[in-house]
Amino acid sequence: MDIVDRLLLNRRTIRKYSDKPIDDNLLDDLLRMGCRTATTGNMQVYSIIITRDHVMKGKLAPLHFNQKMITEAQVVLTFCADFNRFNKWCRQRKADPGYDNFLSFFTAAIDALLVAQTVCIAAEARGLGSCYLGTTTYMSDKIIEVLDLPKGVVPVTTVTLGWPAETPEQVERLPLEAVVHREIYKNYSAKDIDNHYMLKEKRSDSQQFVKENNKETLAHVFTDVRYTKADNVHFSKVFLKVLKDQGFMNQ
Ligand SMILES: Cc1cc2nc3c(=O)[nH]c(=O)nc-3n(C[C@H](O)[C@H](O)[C@H](O)COP(=O)(O)O)c2cc1C
Repeated sequence: MDIVDRLLLNRRTIRKYSDKPIDDNLLDDLLRMGCRTATTGNMQVYSIIITRDHVMKGKLAPLHFNQKMITEAQVVLTFCADFNRFNKWCRQRKADPGYDNFLSFFTAAIDALLVAQTVCIAAEARGLGSCYLGTTTYMSDKIIEVLDLPKGVVPVTTVTLGWPAETPEQVERLPLEAVVHREIYKNYSAKDIDNHYMLKEKRSDSQQFVKENNKETLAHVFTDVRYTKADNVHFSKVFLKVLKDQGFMNQ
């Protein structure tokens, strides 16, 4: 198997890290590779905040619900949608930027996420482990304060990087035919859904989850425990306010 194939097919999230440092030059290399990623109109409407300092990690940790990766990883990277720099450039050249709207935020968020994923692949190719933190969008208002992000900048994801101190089992994926549609979208019958989710539901850790949470099915663990409507509505409101405050809701 090709080295890239092997890397991509064997990847898994790493949440435990050794205390071996990540060299600055290595980190710069990874970020340089990340920044070669395709970017809308070559605008590079993103910024990456590096956190190495333990005091700063201590400030970020509660905003990521005290997930231990923040304090245990050598490097924490916060990827931000960023029109601040581009807007400044436009204004400095007497051009009038029209990027204070939701589409521009979404464009910048796409750019930021693509860079993040390339950095993860580059890191994994060098033997590092990575973990995304979805708490970034939940707590974006507070992360903005801690990282001193100006108007035009919104954090969209966080990645922790470190040398792996675990080799977890790979977790399953839905079969390819569950996620791929050929030419047009083929909607799912009840039987398709049963077939596609069968493997996931049969796993012993899934069954353990259901038991521990005293739920009827694995789907209930998602809807009632992990990603509840109440949380989603609450954090949506917070995030929409962040987009307004950061200047992306003028439409
Ligand atoms: C946007 C995003 C947010 C995530 N947030 C978290 C998180 O907050 N905490 C965590 O432990 N893992 C997080 N993960 C990792 C996922 O749980 C993980 O990718 C998934 O369970 C599949 O496992 P694998 O990456 O090992 O294949 C996140 C992944 C993504 C893409």
